[in-house]
Amino acid sequence: MIPEKPPQENVFHGSEELKEAHVPSFDKYRELYMKSVDNPDEFWGDVAKDFFWKTKHTGQFLDYNFDVTKGEIYIKCMEGASTNICYNLLDRNVHEKKLADKVAFFWEGNDPGDELTVTYRELLQRVCQFANVLKAQGVKKGDRVSIYMPMVVELVVAMLACVRIGAVHSIVFAGFSAESLCERIVDSQCCLLITADGFYRGDKLINLKLLADEALQKCRDKGFPVGRCIMLKHLSKEPEGILGSQSPPAKRPCPDLQQEKQAGRVKKTRPVPKVPWNPEVDLCWHALLRGVSDECEPEWCDSEDPLFILYTSGSTGKPKGVLHTVSGYMLYTATTFKVVFDHQPDDVYWCTADIGWITGHSYITYGPLANGATSVLFEGLPTYPDVSRMWEIVDKYNVTKFYTAPTAIRLLMKFGNEPVQRYKRSSLKVLGTVGEPINPEAWQWYYNVVGEKRCPIVDTFWQTETGGHVLTPLPAATPMKPGSATLPFFGVVPAILNESGEELEGPSEGYLVFKQPWPGVMRTVYGSHERFESTYFKKFPGYYVTGDGCRRDKDGYFWVTGRIDDMLNVSGHLLSTAEVESSLVEHEAVAEAAVVGRPHPVKGESLYCFVTLNDGVMYNSELEAELKKQVREKIGAIATPDYIQNAPGLPKTRSGKIMRRLLRKIACDERELGDVSTLADSTVVEQLFQNRCCTAV
Ligand code: WT7
Repeated sequence: MIPEKPPQENVFHGSEELKEAHVPSFDKYRELYMKSVDNPDEFWGDVAKDFFWKTKHTGQFLDYNFDVTKGEIYIKCMEGASTNICYNLLDRNVHEKKLADKVAFFWEGNDPGDELTVTYRELLQRVCQFANVLKAQGVKKGDRVSIYMPMVVELVVAMLACVRIGAVHSIVFAGFSAESLCERIVDSQCCLLITADGFYRGDKLINLKLLADEALQKCRDKGFPVGRCIMLKHLSKEPEGILGSQSPPAKRPCPDLQQEKQAGRVKKTRPVPKVPWNPEVDLCWHALLRGVSDECEPEWCDSEDPLFILYTSGSTGKPKGVLHTVSGYMLYTATTFKVVFDHQPDDVYWCTADIGWITGHSYITYGPLANGATSVLFEGLPTYPDVSRMWEIVDKYNVTKFYTAPTAIRLLMKFGNEPVQRYKRSSLKVLGTVGEPINPEAWQWYYNVVGEKRCPIVDTFWQTETGGHVLTPLPAATPMKPGSATLPFFGVVPAILNESGEELEGPSEGYLVFKQPWPGVMRTVYGSHERFESTYFKKFPGYYVTGDGCRRDKDGYFWVTGRIDDMLNVSGHLLSTAEVESSLVEHEAVAEAAVVGRPHPVKGESLYCFVTLNDGVMYNSELEAELKKQVREKIGAIATPDYIQNAPGLPKTRSGKIMRRLLRKIACDERELGDVSTLADSTVVEQLFQNRCCTAV
């Protein structure tokens, strides 16, 4: 399965500087991989020794059924053992590993100069305090708590406070709409919402509390009233300081105007949002913390107790609440972080993702903290106040390991090399990407210009469902090929299947599946185990189906080719065409809608929407703007349509199924249509070609 010898042709090799790496050679990788699949219990058992267990596990280390024909699908890791992740992330590092004064996070705000440093000791204290606040609010083990916050340290505090008391966090990305938040709160039956007054994305003010209020109103309308909403004052200049009432660090250190001017920027005075306040529901984060103890005994949880729910788009219907559990997820995120980024004690690591996505969960919070790492937590944008911001931050904190998405690389690439070269970047050692296949041009630019040919690139393939990296190079061990996520991580057994479900050997292309679980794989879809089984296990009994297509080359390397279901990948985020379509159809003017992806130079894919209007309705730019707004409001800004085309008819098969394949051709103006024998009315296609949208709306 893993080639005996690493490939020699057309490959890039890891850096000389990484000789002391955790996995220093291809042979070592192969040896450890073999052990991880031949004897997973021993392999993961060794990993588990580094963590704290209140009680030992009983029975098998990893127990599972992946075959729907043999009964219910289940995955259990270390069942019977009890532990607490928050304890392992914080107390263990503070007390056992003597990392109390080590920096956990360098928080870097949206505006340069807005910054904060938090050590492991401080983080532990804040988390315990807030855990006590949650307890005082009656939150108990197993309760779900929804978190809708910007990228601030308190987001980590809120999530770990939940974990400390055994509550299950459900974080909703702050770029999602009120409607999406409401849908997620109701689905996971959350008892409490934690949010903030607002935040800035570049120059734009996002009044988060307004959106949270709107979501809570929608919840009430649906008969699911949420009793309490805790709001952090992030923007208002309260004297309490950003982390609460004790030892306030200067929350917004006054910018040294002289310095700012030299750097060519004068900091603007930011207006603070007006926050609506409903005393029956709303609680102030800072007021709740006053006088609260900073010690809190962790709730000891079983390995298979739920840890968190995170929603991901489903190809049919509403988003799925992916559920991860305690121990397997902890072991897996800790190990992938350590090995894939080759974490060393003096590293400064920076993952640019938002914690609202799985990348942020696994590789800002859980994996790094489990390793006692120092991370940058960045609130802002790669292009604000200018397109050098990323590299400025790299130099400011001497970042050694840097993890971002292909869409960000493509965006910055457009501005050329100068904004990168304005900064030294000499601290960088490993670069990573995640979210979608990286095109070779972007890979080359990242490697040559950003990393100056010195830094290996780890192209990590994984999913919300997989919990952590599943296909990835290891920086000192795996020769790299631009655009390939290379080979499986420890414990992961990939296969490629054809349409009839047969495993293909050697160079081949087909469905990417996994044959056995690894500790971090999801356990169920919250509230619907049936949906879990039918989405991932029904199509090919015995396998976990990723939904991605994949090619394997002669060296055994995997090349993920993208989704093969009706999902789109916009800027590294999955969107379901069905969801966008249903928000278009909800508009009174629209009878039918079909959405396809059109390749986009920065975002990877953009949304091209075809709408059939109700009889008598005229298509005009006003309607177009309304439709665009409607989708934004229903789902969120990432789902904003790029193109909307008036489609008096849609190409359908004789049985009435929309032929998306043809719509994709129309969106891209490709006239080679292939087989159209099943098409009911071919004049429809010609008409759509004639009226194509050439410019984005
Ligand atoms: C889908 C999962 C994993 C965190 C971010 C997205 C695509 C992800 C890669 C990669 C090719 C990739 C796949 C996958 N994807 N990483 N390195 N190469 N494709 O999480 O929202 O659950 O999306 O993202 O299509 O199925 P997600």
